[in-house]
Amino acid sequence: MAQPGADKAAMHTFINGLMQKMTLDEKIGQLNLPGAGDIVTGQASNSDIGKKIKEGRVGGLFNIKSVEKIKAIQKVAVEESRLKIPLIFGMDVIHGYKTVFPIPLALSCSWDMQLIEQTARIAAIEASADGINWTFSPMVDIARDPRWGRIAEGSGEDAYLGSRIAAAMVTGYQGNDLSKDNTILSCVKHYALYGAAEAGRDYNTTDMSRQRMYNEYFPPYFAAVKAGVGSVMASFNEVDGIPATANKWLMNDVLRKEWGFDGLLVTDYTGINEMIDHGLGDLKTVSAKALQAGIDMDMVGEGFLTTLQSSLQAGIITEAQINTACKRILEAKYKLGLFEDPYRYCKEERARTEVYTAAHRKIAREAAAQSFVLLKNQNKTLPLRKTGTLAVIGPLANNKENMPGTWSVAAEFDKSISVLTGLKEVAGNQVKFLYAKGSNLDADEKFEERAGMFGKALGRDKRTEEAMIAEAVSVAAQSDAILAVLGESAEMTGESSSRADLSIPETQRKLLKALLATGKPVVLVLFTGRPLTLTEEQKEVPAILNVWFGGSETGYAVADVLFGDVNPSGKLSTSFPKHVGQVPIFYNHKNTGRPLAAGKWFQKFRSNYLDVDNDPLYPFGFGLSYTNFQYGTLTVSDTLLKGEQMLTARIKVKNTGNYAGKETVQLYIRDMVGSVTRPVKELKGFEKITLEPGEEKEVVFKISTADLMFYNYDLLHTWEPGEFQIMVGPNSRDLQSVKVQWEK
Ligand code: BGC
Repeated sequence: MAQPGADKAAMHTFINGLMQKMTLDEKIGQLNLPGAGDIVTGQASNSDIGKKIKEGRVGGLFNIKSVEKIKAIQKVAVEESRLKIPLIFGMDVIHGYKTVFPIPLALSCSWDMQLIEQTARIAAIEASADGINWTFSPMVDIARDPRWGRIAEGSGEDAYLGSRIAAAMVTGYQGNDLSKDNTILSCVKHYALYGAAEAGRDYNTTDMSRQRMYNEYFPPYFAAVKAGVGSVMASFNEVDGIPATANKWLMNDVLRKEWGFDGLLVTDYTGINEMIDHGLGDLKTVSAKALQAGIDMDMVGEGFLTTLQSSLQAGIITEAQINTACKRILEAKYKLGLFEDPYRYCKEERARTEVYTAAHRKIAREAAAQSFVLLKNQNKTLPLRKTGTLAVIGPLANNKENMPGTWSVAAEFDKSISVLTGLKEVAGNQVKFLYAKGSNLDADEKFEERAGMFGKALGRDKRTEEAMIAEAVSVAAQSDAILAVLGESAEMTGESSSRADLSIPETQRKLLKALLATGKPVVLVLFTGRPLTLTEEQKEVPAILNVWFGGSETGYAVADVLFGDVNPSGKLSTSFPKHVGQVPIFYNHKNTGRPLAAGKWFQKFRSNYLDVDNDPLYPFGFGLSYTNFQYGTLTVSDTLLKGEQMLTARIKVKNTGNYAGKETVQLYIRDMVGSVTRPVKELKGFEKITLEPGEEKEVVFKISTADLMFYNYDLLHTWEPGEFQIMVGPNSRDLQSVKVQWEK
């Protein structure tokens, strides 16, 4: 049998040989990816799925976990099916496995590529130790609309940051040799434009210009392909009027031909069947369309399994198309080393020793703290001293189940660390903690039910709103400071969790007001999976620490940051609107023909609103620290450049406060004149530095014409000579800028 990791020629020889033995049915069977269904340990062979596997009608399974189960089902494939072809086992390992890292939106706020890669590496180690060899991650959909619940699963609004993260995650999962037993196949999703759903409603239509696709939405998918991602998942939505799953231009022309992707292309969950509702025809028609567009594997819906034979007979598709799809699936299995050892990822010893380890949990704790964003800190309310009495109040304060956040299917909720537990363990008995729930998640019981699915209910308190608030206020009265632990539950974001209102639920806001009225210092510890509208909170609450959903170690990380053992350094990867009506709001917008004059917020016949200004509450890239960073003057090596010359931009940053801290220094560029309109600024680089109190470092950005490139009207990737503004600063709003002229 051919060796894994051997060269491509050996792989092709092996797979061609195998395919010659395969019947048409067996080839079509490989294209089938059902959910794990009814598998009960000890019964794998007799389960419905087991029967199909024996008949060679299954290529892989997903969302099944544990070595025991996976081994048993793999055994059916390699011992009881005619050709003994091993199955591939996929799973949504989105932000960690049992050791859960912060939700991806949170993690992206670390701006720390090494850390992000490391979280993916650990996720791969744990998942592969438990039998999984394929993850449906990273999700890299650019999202500019916080109403969309799945904004939580991606890296925010920016193509450059998103691309860097996409590459880091692919590398973390796949390493440099897929056949190792602790690397897994990565699947970038959801290709394409899934984050641009109209009105932020999940699965909704997307429609945009090709310029926008290429310049603003495609880059992270492309970056994943360039990083060698082994598989791609088609998105549910339509693109240019054709669902991605059947969109030949998207799959074949762009992904395969232009980007050179030669890996496995899988649908999303019932993506083929859903094209019936999209209005593209019956199951046979839409299945044929998907295959023709270049889809290899059909997740769940069995459209391929049940209709491709007859489409072939009818001459709608060709056998060559089936062969191509089958070959890509077999290649993925080959690269994973499954033909050499189908049980490569089924080592009980690894499952016992490499999952949820102390070392992994330590990194998860650090990652969570790195993902938190300090939004406000008036009069140095934070960090808290480890003395006195703290009132810990709110529906999220004493809950474990919600800490991991959305899409954490392998998490063991009872093991995750609540805020209250984390605080108590970190502060020891130096601090006295008082607790009250203070409010339900939402006054509407039905809403709370919808927002507490998958075992994450917060537990409904039957008391009246007034009674709960009264109790909280009396508890708060005995404290020196109040931690108001409020916001969203984990399932208020994620799939099919869009919201029209972006505020903290009203009942919690009433609680917050009552706590503020006590006159004690209040810190809002905010849980959320999306940017919220915090305009009132920003006015009234002295300190706001946005902790997103930090994963299994959330409680410890919250305590580390609140008590100052870790200085927060997260910077937002999405803009926080002042009002939901500003949505979509993002920093790299166009100027329009009627921009507002600088510093103005309303001018008649200018592009603005009557009732709110154009600015976000917190801009992209924003985040505070317990220390202060003083920026020196931005200088550039030249102001007149030619051709492939390099431009250097330098800035000194000094820590003038009392804490060591990390600062992400950001570089933006504006192309002042173009053959098509260009954004008012675009992130082109960043560096995260660590500074001790009093320490100063110089950050140097090397800029080349590659940083000036964009897709023009003809979708040519090019740069145009002229004037550019080079901007550097701590976030996308507070920038110093220098103009340069760059000629061809
Ligand atoms: C989601 C995907 C996920 C798949 C499998 C779908 O509903 O859109 O992101 O990978 O389910 O669980």
